[in-house]
Amino acid sequence: MPTATDVREQVVELAREFARDKIEPFAAEWDRTSHFPRDVIDELGKLGFLGMCTPEEYDGMGLDTVTYLMVLEEISAADSALAVSIGIHNAIPTTMLVRHGTREQKERWLKPMARGELLAGFALSEAEAGSDAASLRSQAIKDGKHWVLNGAKAWATNAGTADLMMIMVRTDTPNARRGAKGISTFIVPTDSKGYKAAKPEDKMGLRASNTAGIELNDLRLPADQMLGEEGMGFVYAMEGLDSGRLGIGAQGVGIARKALELSLMYCAERKQFGKAIADFQAVQFKLADMATRIEAARALAQRAAARKDAGEDITLYASMAKLFASETAMWVTTQAIQLFGGYGYMRDFPVEKLFRDAKVTEIYEGTSEIQRIVISRSLSKG
Ligand code: CAA
Repeated sequence: MPTATDVREQVVELAREFARDKIEPFAAEWDRTSHFPRDVIDELGKLGFLGMCTPEEYDGMGLDTVTYLMVLEEISAADSALAVSIGIHNAIPTTMLVRHGTREQKERWLKPMARGELLAGFALSEAEAGSDAASLRSQAIKDGKHWVLNGAKAWATNAGTADLMMIMVRTDTPNARRGAKGISTFIVPTDSKGYKAAKPEDKMGLRASNTAGIELNDLRLPADQMLGEEGMGFVYAMEGLDSGRLGIGAQGVGIARKALELSLMYCAERKQFGKAIADFQAVQFKLADMATRIEAARALAQRAAARKDAGEDITLYASMAKLFASETAMWVTTQAIQLFGGYGYMRDFPVEKLFRDAKVTEIYEGTSEIQRIVISRSLSKG
């Protein structure tokens, strides 16, 4: 009978080999051509990587969160665009369904998601509702046994490539607004009439991931496609984001780790003034600081994951992990470009992609400023 440690080692090793053989060699080309590799995601799905933390009774792998972060780090080190495409699916819609789905919703949506047959995403933001997510304006109106959704969502990962989106819209009425408690979550198949993903955004980084707006035009859904309770959608989204932010922590660590690995190789080979630049103390100190921050970011994210596995509330720790890892990724990739010098600024060398990919980790799933708000609010609540 394999122990939990054996399972962790096997799963992480499988992810590492997959990332080395089937992701990393192609990541630069996907980035250049903004190609979303659905076939590779499907292959990951067949191996169970779209149901990593989904309980086994719902066809998932039932992994703990620490193992999940280790897998995401491996995939992110190879290509963080792919890591976010599967990270969102595993963290947010999956968590929402596991926690709040009915038995029928779990049978119909969660099981095929965990088996890798359906790819899912999450749409909270709108053009005028980014950090202030509760101010969103898309609206659902009850019509007998149906809800009719109208509005527009923005910057949703997988919006144009997912089979299923979890969409947050208002279900309160204009004359009785209820703020955050006026928002509900709907399970929306992307082939529904009235669902239209916009043209994929032309992004600075993560160019192989699909990010798009969504138009909701008289999208009619049976009432049983509302998730959980009416008016609780914002809370469910925040809970999902607690898990999502841990994943972004692992994504940041993966990006930074790759930048360090490449820098170590480059500095050992690159000769100036008659010796390898790795022999200069200024370079050694930079590498030492990069490695130390990465180790600290990983430890913080894994500690938060262990708290989640122990059933603790992780809102505070997920924000700390995301904040620190994303700022580490940005700092480490900036140092890597500096170490590579002129080569680092060129598309032909891989560190500029890591730098571009790192930036969004400080923005999406809550900006660094929002993480500081969450952290300081938690501290003041004691
Ligand atoms: N878990 C459970 N409940 C939570 C919660 C959490 N983590 N955070 C808040 N809530 C609850 C609160 O307890 C409150 O309920 P009660 O009134 O019953 O106490 C309710 O939700 C409203 O909370 P707040 O009053 O704190 O709400 P707020 O309007 O002040 O907003 C915020 C708080 C932290 C700033 C929040 O708006 C936020 O996180 N903003 C950033 C949004 C974000 O991360 N967007 C990313 C979108 S996803 C993405 O990036 C795209 C992608 O695909 C990658």
